[in-house]
Amino acid sequence: MYYSQIISIIFLIPFTLFLHNTLAIEEPLYQICSSTSKNFTFDTPYQNNLNKLLAFLQYKTPPTGFSLTSIGKNPSKVYGLSLCRGDVNASDCNACVLDASAEIRKRCPYNKGANIWYDNCMLKYSNQDFFGKIDLENRFCLCNVQNISNNPSLFNKKVKELLSKLAGQSASSRKHYAASEMKLDMFTDLYGLAQCTRDLSSKDCKVCLDEAISKLPSCCGDKQGGRLVGGSCNVRYEIYPFVNS
Ligand SMILES: *[C@@H]1O[C@H](CO)[C@@H](O)[C@H](O)[C@H]1NC(C)=O
Ligand SMILES: *[C@@H]1O[C@H](CO)[C@@H](O)[C@H](O)[C@H]1NC(C)=O
Ligand SMILES: *[C@@H]1O[C@H](CO)[C@@H](O)[C@H](O)[C@H]1NC(C)=O
Repeated sequence: MYYSQIISIIFLIPFTLFLHNTLAIEEPLYQICSSTSKNFTFDTPYQNNLNKLLAFLQYKTPPTGFSLTSIGKNPSKVYGLSLCRGDVNASDCNACVLDASAEIRKRCPYNKGANIWYDNCMLKYSNQDFFGKIDLENRFCLCNVQNISNNPSLFNKKVKELLSKLAGQSASSRKHYAASEMKLDMFTDLYGLAQCTRDLSSKDCKVCLDEAISKLPSCCGDKQGGRLVGGSCNVRYEIYPFVNS
């Protein structure tokens, strides 16, 4: 049941954006405005709580790269978190969370829940308590447009090997983040990243990442790069470096 649900999510949203490697300005990768709860209306307790939550996340996230909080009382309680990519420094993290909180309000103005993703950070909020739970609803994949030029099956095997190693490291690390590279041949290195939100237990982080890794081939099979990005974890591989070392 669990497994078939996951598959249907991927096939119901066969969302493969093609992204160029260079983006001039920081644009969101994607956003999802939740449609499961009724919209809130302007100038209500929910909106006030949401404004406070976003201010809190802006202030609290940059020093550690992660923040999680809830504000208010039911039925107007709002839950939120923001996470910067594990290698991103406090000033870039700050800039990203600022952009994310302004942009998410523009793109999902009256939704009680929303997610927004950038290269450097993600931010999400909801009227539902999602803390410590693996988010399988809000996710998408992004693929490099370039095909693997030779021996795709070996390449895909190496991708799985690198990402699985990183999933284990990420799950057991305090920051739930791991990135590294491996040699493919004399001329090519493969770079990978795995990261979870820090409200997940090590066990759930591993579950989330393993699941994301298993879905990558159906999204970005035979591509030189790809990522599966979700509300709780994300994985990425490329044949060029994409994190700060
Ligand atoms: C933060 O990282 C960015 C990108 O790597 C870099 O350009 C910037 O100088 C860094 N800022 C600080 C304060 O270290
Ligand atoms: C909720 O708000 C969104 C814009 O954020 C709008 O597109 C949607 O139609 C609204 N839904 C309802 C049920 O009012
Ligand atoms: C990648 O391969 C597919 C299928 O073989 C082909 O249709 C597509 O044009 C190729 N893309 C690039 C960027 O070479």
